[in-house]
Amino acid sequence: MTRTFKHRHLLGIEELEAEDIFLLLDLSERFLEISERPLKKVPTLRGKTVINLFMESSTRTRGSFEIAGKRLSADVINQSSSGSSSSKGETLLDMAKNLGAMNPDVVVVRHRAAGTAHFLSRHLDASIVNAGDGMHEHPTQALLDCATIRRHKKQFEGLEVAILGDVSHSRVARSDILALTKLGARIRVAGPRTLLPIGLESLGVEVFDRIESAIEGADVVMALRLQEERQRSGLIPGNREFSRFFGVDNSRLALAKPDAIVMHPGPMNRGVEISPEVADGPRSVILEQVTYGVAVRMAILYLMAGSESTE
Ligand code: NCD
Repeated sequence: MTRTFKHRHLLGIEELEAEDIFLLLDLSERFLEISERPLKKVPTLRGKTVINLFMESSTRTRGSFEIAGKRLSADVINQSSSGSSSSKGETLLDMAKNLGAMNPDVVVVRHRAAGTAHFLSRHLDASIVNAGDGMHEHPTQALLDCATIRRHKKQFEGLEVAILGDVSHSRVARSDILALTKLGARIRVAGPRTLLPIGLESLGVEVFDRIESAIEGADVVMALRLQEERQRSGLIPGNREFSRFFGVDNSRLALAKPDAIVMHPGPMNRGVEISPEVADGPRSVILEQVTYGVAVRMAILYLMAGSESTE
């Protein structure tokens, strides 16, 4: 590969240019093939160490980073808040310095505070990968979403992508909006006004009050979970009302293009933001997103711990 990745860390989509994103997507396609082999392991990162530091709950992201590291033969260790010394009162900086003293090559971090990955990148020699920092960014989710969209839609230019629901509290929405607009897609969002950030239009996004208007003619329909763990109370009357006005069900999906795909970053709350018929229906690519999650994270670990980063 002649193109090089200029970044030592992956902190957010904000720092990336379209060509960085395309390089990661192309590399992911190559790594996808390894996951389809009977023996899913290559020696590429033998002797490299990856620390997964997950201070917030995770199933897909943490699992896929671990599998990605292992398929590349890296040594992977997992730390979570409950089993770590943060539950004994250790500060994040002390914990980071101690993990740094073990000489990891890559530290993957998820934390409830926005800016944690940036903070660690200033205090550790390892490459830092942001696996979700509060309401800020979730760059690897955006990359796996782009990889899934490209597989089905081939190109991004002019694509109409509807992102629906709790946009305010969603780091996935933020990273997806940044990535997809850099690649030339057009973003529409819809949700209760209390769950849409003020000034969203400045990101080049079209904002709708009614979910039907956002879905009409869309190529991609993405539903988001209500991020109750980050919400102040009283932002919506309740899950039942939310589902009635903003849930993606078959009748609303019928407004999208006939070949539209349905996405969700997981975890889903079935019957709230997405109906089971849609989640399990023929247009759903939700499990493909998870498969691409491994491939994208292999590509990222390869660039972070391997030899292609130049900075
Ligand atoms: C998302 C997250 O943690 O931001 N999940 C994920 O990583 N796939 C979205 C969510 O929690 O709803």
